[in-house]
Amino acid sequence: MRVPALIATATLLALAQFAAAAAAPPAAPAPVVIKDAAGASYTGDAEAGQKKFTVCAVCHSVKQGENKIGPTLFGVVGRKAGTVAGYTYTAANKNSGLTWTAQVLADYLENPKLKIPGTKMAYAGLRKPQDRANVIAYLAKQK
Ligand code: HEC
Repeated sequence: MRVPALIATATLLALAQFAAAAAAPPAAPAPVVIKDAAGASYTGDAEAGQKKFTVCAVCHSVKQGENKIGPTLFGVVGRKAGTVAGYTYTAANKNSGLTWTAQVLADYLENPKLKIPGTKMAYAGLRKPQDRANVIAYLAKQK
């Protein structure tokens, strides 16, 4: 094969690969995996989490900008604590310095008052690590 033909073939191959990559469906979001205090891992199931979220929904919406007794949890995964506009937090929550990664949320939701002493979130916590993983997997989709 002559050199120009080689280059042409290589270009076509590269184009075909590019087209295949562009046509591929978007990669599935990474699963939410959290650890409990003993270090065991739990993978969240967003559908089960949506059902469990009804206990949170008394006080929280997942709609952007909709604050209830608690701040909206729209986009909460990855967000800095205490930063929802128009919501009045306690100083404890606002100044916690936390960022709501999946694992920080898991630790918080096990026992909110232990993680943020002085929070006004009147909720005892989700004791089962699988429930926490599920709720966080659901929250991760609310964005
Ligand atoms: C009885 C009402 C109530 C329930 C039930 C409740 N929360 Fe809250 N939550 C609040 C309040 C009030 C705050 C604000 C706390 C503060 O400012 O001290 C809050 C704060 C939070 C925060 C911090 C938000 C931020 O922007 O920093 C997260 C995360 C959260 N709640 C998640 C949950 C989840 C998940 C559940 C269910 C498992 C839940 N909450 C159940 C009332 C509630």
